[in-house]
Amino acid sequence: MKIGIVGGTGGMGEGFALRWCLKHDIIIGSREAQKAKEAAENYTNTAKQAYGLDTTIAGSITGDDNISLAKNCDMLILSIPYEFIDDMCGKLASQVRSDCIVVSPIVPMTRTDTGFIYIPLEQGKKPAAEMVAERMAPRSRVVSAFHTISEVKLKKVGMSLDADTYICCDDQNVVARLSQLVSEISGLRPVYLGPLSLTYQAEVLTPMLLNAAKQNKMKHPGIKLT
Ligand SMILES: NC(=O)c1ccc[n+]([C@@H]2O[C@H](COP(=O)([O-])OP(=O)(O)OC[C@H]3O[C@@H](n4cnc5c(N)ncnc54)[C@H](OP(=O)(O)O)[C@@H]3O)[C@@H](O)[C@H]2O)c1
Repeated sequence: MKIGIVGGTGGMGEGFALRWCLKHDIIIGSREAQKAKEAAENYTNTAKQAYGLDTTIAGSITGDDNISLAKNCDMLILSIPYEFIDDMCGKLASQVRSDCIVVSPIVPMTRTDTGFIYIPLEQGKKPAAEMVAERMAPRSRVVSAFHTISEVKLKKVGMSLDADTYICCDDQNVVARLSQLVSEISGLRPVYLGPLSLTYQAEVLTPMLLNAAKQNKMKHPGIKLT
């Protein structure tokens, strides 16, 4: 599969690339093509070192600017901060293929004196994946997931995550394809939550998790249903 990661120069992008390059062709995206190419080269070296000679890396990691990579992907991960959804999706919408799946791991969150808060609840704004769906029609191709996965753990390819990720989407075929990718990350279980309109329930878990981690001095905790 060809997986494009918009904003792939950030920590989550690196983690996704390192985990999925074993089987897939990853294209790291950035607003600057040169920055993306350099990141891709670094991630490739990191992957070779981390997996060692015993593991075959059947995929690849390359870099391009966000707009160019969008034309050529089976799946597009929007790994950018909440604040830039409108601007970036506005530029991407006309570029993506009609059969491209669009994934939102975006968490609308900020820090206040009381702790981490969920922006849509506190400021009357929309959940991230709802904003994405408005700009990246059709809605059925948009799926939200990965909100409670720590980039620190994702980047450690030898580490099993021992966690769930909660998936919201209107199309079961899209859920199945994303769930397969989730399952390729060691110890990560895909758990379907419901249609995209429930994405707020997945997104709001992250500020909850970070508040619990801070108050109880826990390092990069995840969430798992038992
Ligand atoms: N970090 C985590 O542990 C974690 C966990 C779960 C979910 N998430 C979510 O996953 C997403 C990515 O997280 P992250 O920590 O990797 O993000 P990040 O490092 O803050 O940002 C990712 C990339 O976004 C791009 N970017 C910055 N400003 C932009 C703008 N104005 N327009 C377009 N692109 C811009 C930058 O790439 P260029 O400068 O190269 O363009 C940057 O490298 C976020 O929405 C976050 O809420 C993060």
